[in-house]
Amino acid sequence: MAQPLTQSQPHATKSKFPILRYIAIIILALIILVGIAVLISWLVLKPKHLQYSVEDASIHNFNLTDANHLNAKFDFTIRAKNPNSKVSIYYDSIEVSVRYEDQTLATNTIQPYFQPHKNVTRLHVGLTAQTVALYGSVPKDIKIERSSGDIQLDVFVRARIRFKVGVWKSKHRVIKIFCSPVLVNFSKVKSFERAYCDVDM
Ligand SMILES: *[C@@H]1O[C@H](CO)[C@@H](O)[C@H](O)[C@H]1NC(C)=O
Ligand SMILES: *[C@@H]1O[C@H](CO)[C@@H](O)[C@H](O)[C@H]1NC(C)=O
Ligand SMILES: *[C@@H]1O[C@H](CO)[C@@H](O)[C@H](O)[C@H]1NC(C)=O
Repeated sequence: MAQPLTQSQPHATKSKFPILRYIAIIILALIILVGIAVLISWLVLKPKHLQYSVEDASIHNFNLTDANHLNAKFDFTIRAKNPNSKVSIYYDSIEVSVRYEDQTLATNTIQPYFQPHKNVTRLHVGLTAQTVALYGSVPKDIKIERSSGDIQLDVFVRARIRFKVGVWKSKHRVIKIFCSPVLVNFSKVKSFERAYCDVDM
């Protein structure tokens, strides 16, 4: 009785199971593909909501010489918000520059850091303009703003970042953050009005 059973079983697996197996493999492949597609689109869409703003700014030791050379120290507090609940961020390099009209006044870097998910970090950066030659209408316009008491600056941030989801880490990408206008009062008597930034990734 046992003999015909053991003989018929291999026949059954050969005739029926390959089809079922192919169907199962196809379904599994589809599930994996859909999963990858969802993961990729989620990663691409989600991190776009990183938010930045300039929370505080001040100018020290401002001096514009007769030869139109600028000396000044700019201090900014940049608020970086990662609202994502699963994505954390490696900031591998961060370069901040301050511009007036189309001229860069000073540039500095911020220490690389890791931002966990659902995190707000305040980055303090000081930028020193040392004998920076100003061109065109820039010196004249800066003098006018100096005597009015406040100046409209632009803050640029260029960072190389990586996203981290669980143990997975993305490739490097460059994020450009543009904060304009940042209105800074020379005397700093009035409280600073937060300037929101545009993000380009
Ligand atoms: C500004 O710089 C010039 C040239 O270096 C100097 O003569 C002048 O005293 C400085 N002014 C202030 C207020 O520091
Ligand atoms: C954000 O992350 C930094 C660095 O890990 C941490 O020091 C800080 O407390 C975090 N802030 C919030 C609001 O979670
Ligand atoms: C900047 O400070 C000066 C005082 O030196 C004040 O008169 C002026 O209203 C302030 N400007 C702004 C926009 O807060």
